[in-house]
Amino acid sequence: MFNINNIRKDFPILNRKVNGKPLVYLDNAATSQKPQIVIDSIVDYYSNYNANIHRGVHSLSQEATDVYELARKKIQEHFNIKESREVIFTSGTTHSINIVANGYTKILEKGDEIIVSAMEHHSNIVPWQMLCNRTGAILKVIPMNLEGELILSEYEKLLSAKTKLVFVNHVSNALGTINPIEEITKKAHEFNAVVLIDGAQACSHIKVDVQKLDIDFYVTSAHKMCGPTGTGMLYGKEELLNLLPPYQGGGEMIKEVTFEKTTYADLPHKFEAGTPNISGGIAFGVAIDYLNTIGFTEILKYENELVAYATQRLLEIEGLKIYGTSRSKTSVISFNIGSIHPYDIGTIVDKLGIAVRTGHHCTQPIMEFYKIPGTVRASFSFYNTKEEVDVLVSAIKKAKMMLQ
Ligand code: ALA
Repeated sequence: MFNINNIRKDFPILNRKVNGKPLVYLDNAATSQKPQIVIDSIVDYYSNYNANIHRGVHSLSQEATDVYELARKKIQEHFNIKESREVIFTSGTTHSINIVANGYTKILEKGDEIIVSAMEHHSNIVPWQMLCNRTGAILKVIPMNLEGELILSEYEKLLSAKTKLVFVNHVSNALGTINPIEEITKKAHEFNAVVLIDGAQACSHIKVDVQKLDIDFYVTSAHKMCGPTGTGMLYGKEELLNLLPPYQGGGEMIKEVTFEKTTYADLPHKFEAGTPNISGGIAFGVAIDYLNTIGFTEILKYENELVAYATQRLLEIEGLKIYGTSRSKTSVISFNIGSIHPYDIGTIVDKLGIAVRTGHHCTQPIMEFYKIPGTVRASFSFYNTKEEVDVLVSAIKKAKMMLQ
């Protein structure tokens, strides 16, 4: 049963005040808050079984290894990944993308084409531009319409035998659009192109089945899913991960080292050089358990109602324009009021205890498309309430009065 009052009790931070007002946290697309059970799992690791993993025969090391590997299993099950070795622990989405981008340096040839979408986060643009610079590959962009939806007929025109890689986010961090990743993947596969989906903004709202969707690479960050920062996941089909060279050299990722030659460890360790974020990985598993206990069907239903309510209430404000009006969207409302600078609105509502993000949201091409400097972005989670939406709306009204 989805009980919002009980859920809110799980998050200690929701009790605090900011600038003397109860915190209204609406910056969930930047990072989610953490339930006590996730915080406790980090404290428990450092208090009771802190040791390095995969290295010691001693009991503590084995205990830590078991719990860490159990987290990998939890991630595997959650995303319906075939083999646990296809789950690579990373420091987050950006790290995951860079592993793949680096890996294709020797695989791509001059004139090969890479497709990204017009609504990517900078982290799903810049690594591919760097890859293009290294290889002579060409970057093409799927355009979007004013509602903030990708124009799939244009995507089809971009696909050809030259297309080697396609990169699209599952959910846009700036607009909230849920992209049709199944269709995008299917069409790319008709041209034997490999698809990477950036799931950073999707995973806290939508349960993803990578096998059902036939996704080649899927990447995300734990901190968007009630887990800690500094931990994330790269999922890749085994045959594709095996084609890629290691991203970093170091301990843990080798089979044998001599001064003449090194052979690399098998998956997943080939991509996990050095001591990982052990408590982070463990807490990632705990966060996934927590979200599944609430249930993704319930989460999505509740959030959809909340966003519909927030949209309707915000649109009561004269002159307020929402960017990203796709019918297929989740939990993000980006907006501006006339020519008021988003930063000014963000600063005033912060004084009233409300956390929203302002600016370009690491998506400058989207802002350029709409010809705006940025937006105010309210992003919602299942622990937000309609009462908080009301507080936001009154605060925005107040800010508008002060700034106009
Ligand atoms: N990518 C995160 C955001 O959209 C940080 O705020």
